[in-house]
Amino acid sequence: MDVVNALQWRYACKKMSGAPVAEEKIEKILEAIRLAPTSMGFQPLTVLVIKDVGLRKKILPIANNQAQVVDCSHLLVFCTWDQFTPAQVEAYMQLIMDTRGVSAESISGFKRGLESLLGNRSIEENREWAARQAYLAFGVGLTAAATEGVDATPMEGFKPLELDAMLELDKKGLRSVVMLPLGQRDEANDWLLKLPKVRRSADQFFIHYE
Ligand SMILES: Cc1cc2nc3c(=O)[nH]c(=O)nc-3n(C[C@H](O)[C@H](O)[C@H](O)COP(=O)(O)O)c2cc1C
Repeated sequence: MDVVNALQWRYACKKMSGAPVAEEKIEKILEAIRLAPTSMGFQPLTVLVIKDVGLRKKILPIANNQAQVVDCSHLLVFCTWDQFTPAQVEAYMQLIMDTRGVSAESISGFKRGLESLLGNRSIEENREWAARQAYLAFGVGLTAAATEGVDATPMEGFKPLELDAMLELDKKGLRSVVMLPLGQRDEANDWLLKLPKVRRSADQFFIHYE
């Protein structure tokens, strides 16, 4: 589907049917998310892909009883890395060297740049920076879902600290940021489906300098 048509078609699905989404479509959406750009390419995020219905039922109250968490096919939870460590930077440098066949010396300036970027900021500033990267990947996922004809609900309406505790994300060094249930709309029972999109006009939205 053309991207603009896909974005017209999509909406924040309020009622999902419970039908499974084909794994090939899920794989495409996940791959789009993995390919999302991040600042300095550091990818300070990890995405949980939760198919387990029992686990999703436990998440339901943490997500303010938003039924899409259970009625979806796959629940994606975008998490950021809790803290940044020299080992993560080393692993990233190694990945660049392996992928591009370049030497450590040739990327030493880039490495220093990343180290000073991370080192000059507080833990909280780094977390906010990582969350921005997670939101970017989330947006790519939302768009990819639409182009695949897969319904989704962008979802901030949950209690991250409770979810982190329930999933013991601290043991993985992660913090949840935003969720994305993927599924199929329940056409007969979704009140939002028939309502037109509310967006400011292009005149109001853009300022052109020509
Ligand atoms: C970051 C983010 C968080 C959101 N959280 C929720 C949510 O928790 N529950 C929900 O039903 N909709 C949620 N929404 C949906 C928005 O209300 C919706 O995207 C917006 O009104 C635009 O409508 P549309 O997505 O149907 O075009 C969220 C959207 C975004 C982008």
